[in-house]
Amino acid sequence: MSNKGCDLGLVGLGAMGRNLVLNLADHGVAVAVYNRTPARTREFMDREAGDRDIRAGYTPAEFVGHLQQPRAVIIMVAAGEPVDAVIDELLPLLTSRDLLIDGGNSYFKDTDRRGRALAAKGLLYLGLGISGGEQGARHGPSLMPGGPREAYDRVRPILDAVAAKVQGEPCVAYLGGGAAGHYVKMVHNGIEYAVMELLAESYDLLRRGLGLNPGEVAGIFEEWNRGELASYLVEITGPILRRLDEKTGEPLIDLILDQARQKGTGKWTSQEAMDLQVPTPCIDTAVMMRDLSGFKAERDAASGVLEGPAPVFPGDRQAFVGQLGRGLYAGMALAFAQGLALLRQASQAYDYGLELAEVARIWRGGCIIRAALLEDIWAAFRADPELPNLLLAPHLGWEVMARMPDLRAVVRAAGDLGIPAPGLMVSLAYYDAFRSARLPSNLIQAQRDYFGAHGFERTDLPGAFHTKWTND
Ligand code: 6PG
Repeated sequence: MSNKGCDLGLVGLGAMGRNLVLNLADHGVAVAVYNRTPARTREFMDREAGDRDIRAGYTPAEFVGHLQQPRAVIIMVAAGEPVDAVIDELLPLLTSRDLLIDGGNSYFKDTDRRGRALAAKGLLYLGLGISGGEQGARHGPSLMPGGPREAYDRVRPILDAVAAKVQGEPCVAYLGGGAAGHYVKMVHNGIEYAVMELLAESYDLLRRGLGLNPGEVAGIFEEWNRGELASYLVEITGPILRRLDEKTGEPLIDLILDQARQKGTGKWTSQEAMDLQVPTPCIDTAVMMRDLSGFKAERDAASGVLEGPAPVFPGDRQAFVGQLGRGLYAGMALAFAQGLALLRQASQAYDYGLELAEVARIWRGGCIIRAALLEDIWAAFRADPELPNLLLAPHLGWEVMARMPDLRAVVRAAGDLGIPAPGLMVSLAYYDAFRSARLPSNLIQAQRDYFGAHGFERTDLPGAFHTKWTND
């Protein structure tokens, strides 16, 4: 342990914060830690810090006193008001050029506001998306920094050291100014919601449609994870489905309440997409299904009165599993296509200067949505940095198209069986809408003009038109 000040301070010793401190210290970063409740700091120092170069501050002043100048502090507390509370607590102790880094899932507009307020006081602020959960924080997360370039450059060696590595390259890149980092993390989570929904629907089709038990479904996910669907979320689904409850010996999955909670990042993504008028139906549907899952009492009541077909698959079961895997790949690719199209639009709207190839590159390791598919996505944006939609990428677009007959078969089966698969269904609909040179939006234009004189454009003449549709 050296006598010089710590390289970095970290506030918030929750599970993510504690693991990140250990990761930092294991990479030679001297860290000062502070937690609002001193008992937690004491417990961390006694039980986890070991002989690493970690120094505790039991008051904000003691904590700040441990830091080298200019100081750098990473805040690892729950998004929202707690972040402002930490900033307010530290601010009187900081001086010009000190750097605050918010490592939580903060709403990007909050990050903008905080960045501006701190810049006015001469401080630097970095919004840092961190993905990978507790294990990622401990062993290498994907890091999504945004804010002043100077702030990133100052902590770059530290971020490079602790980030996940893919082929030796750290999964971190400077993403852009302002709230670019937290924006990219928000969209990451939107895609996370979409992929989780697609996996849940696939599980349901196998479980209820094919009548497989959790262990059998686990086997299919394990098989999928060895092929083109290889990804963190597919990987963890196998062991989740195999886990037996210690109390009852039953598959634990069958004992877990079917109500999915959320902290809001998926919803923010959908809200943002609507504001920027970028369609992200796979993400919207995932949020909708989490909301619908919450109506448990109504669903229970409806299940006793509203009838549907018997969910018994009549066809070739082996073939269906293959179709489902290929359809799922298409759905996953479409979820990424929608999220990245949103990022492209946001980069223009907010002047982030995002490089989507870099976004894809740093999502290849450490984060929750890491997937083999991201290799192709990365290549697509390297080949064409201005690609408006992944469906227009020559290779990936073809790969999705090639799987559409499978997705159609799966969607047909879901409809016939009465098993809800809105994520898979909307993936298909998005694909078909996207490839339609002419949509029925002409009728909507005509209706708007009929009842509201909103006008319409014509296909054959420039300008705005209005027709008197009735004789009254
Ligand atoms: C990650 C996760 C992480 C967290 C989500 C869960 O990238 O490591 O996305 O940030 O698990 O916030 O979000 P919900 O509670 O909204 O599902």
